[in-house]
Amino acid sequence: MPGVEGRVIVVTGAGGGLGREYALSLAHNRAKVVVNDLGGARDGSGSGTSMADNVVAEIRAAGGEAVPNYDSVATADGGKAIIQTALDHFGSIHGVVNNAGILRDKGFHKMTDEEWNIVLGVHLHGGFHVTKAAWPHFREQGYGRIVMATSTSGIYGNFGQSNYGAAKAGLIGLINTLAIEGRKYNILANAVAPMAATRMTSDIAPAELLAKLPPEQVAPVVGYLLTEECEDSGTVVVAGGGQVHRVQYFQSQGATFDETPTIDEVAARWKEITDMTGSEPGVNPVG
Ligand SMILES: NC(=O)c1ccc[n+]([C@@H]2O[C@H](COP(=O)([O-])OP(=O)(O)OC[C@H]3O[C@@H](n4cnc5c(N)ncnc54)[C@H](O)[C@@H]3O)[C@@H](O)[C@H]2O)c1
Repeated sequence: MPGVEGRVIVVTGAGGGLGREYALSLAHNRAKVVVNDLGGARDGSGSGTSMADNVVAEIRAAGGEAVPNYDSVATADGGKAIIQTALDHFGSIHGVVNNAGILRDKGFHKMTDEEWNIVLGVHLHGGFHVTKAAWPHFREQGYGRIVMATSTSGIYGNFGQSNYGAAKAGLIGLINTLAIEGRKYNILANAVAPMAATRMTSDIAPAELLAKLPPEQVAPVVGYLLTEECEDSGTVVVAGGGQVHRVQYFQSQGATFDETPTIDEVAARWKEITDMTGSEPGVNPVG
């Protein structure tokens, strides 16, 4: 099976945590990896080269192929430079893992514009910038694999994470359309909501839970979505602690009104509208 062998894959935010595991695992499976990391703190402040360099050194010491990149995913120029690093060093680009991320948790009533914008900037705009720079190459060669790091905070919500949750849900919206637009070019776009013990979760989840969530357990799931054999697109999976589940939108049987109802008529049938008995996977009726 070709798997990811010989494929050139960018992993953003690969200087630590989950991204490092993805990069190590991909290189171990003979992919050529661009290890991108801005090298800053969890809140997005600061920058440096050592995080990416250390992971590249680790990969090379194990006999794998990797090159570092230190650009921020949060700008269009950064996205272009990250993909250019793949082209300059390996001559092509076949896959992108949009994994870079930061946190600025705050209750919504206290959230500042800056806290909102910086988190959307790294996660949602970052996913856009890096993917946008890779997209023309994917189309031209009739092959591309995209994995977005989403989160259960985006799928289900989480107290204090309105900025982060909105960004992560936005990435699911993005893959839904990329899956449609990319299909005829053999470009697949999927999302993984990981659960893992990293610096991001160190003070968020209880220690006993984190002990059961080693980040290396998520890497094979991301790796599979980057293979030639993978045929899924627009799929969202939750992965961590040895468990992997698909998450999907379902639509209720609902109610049909032959004529425009009054508010009272909607209220009278609200239970029927929201009852999920017999629900089916939702599809876009105008798509
Ligand atoms: N750990 C979890 O349980 C969990 C849960 C849900 C989602 N996630 C997502 O998985 C991804 C990885 O998270 P992690 O837990 O490994 O955290 P992490 O903080 O260890 O890793 C994030 C990496 O992204 C890098 N980064 C930050 N801003 C960047 C930028 N602008 N450009 C390039 N690199 C940048 C950081 O330097 C860091 O190495 C994130 O997108 C996160 O939101 C993680």
